[in-house]
Amino acid sequence: MKFFILTLLAVSLSLNVVADEVSNGAELFNKNCIKCHQTPANFTRKNKKTKSYSALKKRVKQCGLMVGASLFDDEVESITNYLNQQYYHYAK
Ligand code: HEC
Repeated sequence: MKFFILTLLAVSLSLNVVADEVSNGAELFNKNCIKCHQTPANFTRKNKKTKSYSALKKRVKQCGLMVGASLFDDEVESITNYLNQQYYHYAK
């Protein structure tokens, strides 16, 4: 029983972390990226350039550098998670 409760607790905690990360990613995206990405056209186009989670993360980092957003690695990760959940759906 104790184990069950602990497992449940661990699962719900990690779900919370994922949810936080995604909403933080949305916030960062709205702050730094929305001016050029008002529509998700680049993320949903057929010939999109990012074909995997790691490529997406690289591109998030590059776009961040390009716009001088000085994102920390965990922020790049959050934005990547957000875009992946919303549009790309790549396996990590
Ligand atoms: C100054 C305008 C501008 C800003 C600001 C900007 N981007 Fe972009 N982004 C672009 C353009 C233009 C492209 C398409 C380039 C191409 O066709 O390869 C692009 C492409 C992308 C792609 C790749 C789309 C694909 O093909 O899969 C991602 C991901 C992306 N941007 C993420 C971001 C993120 C995250 C931010 C904020 C940190 C951001 N962008 C800010 C202009 C911008």
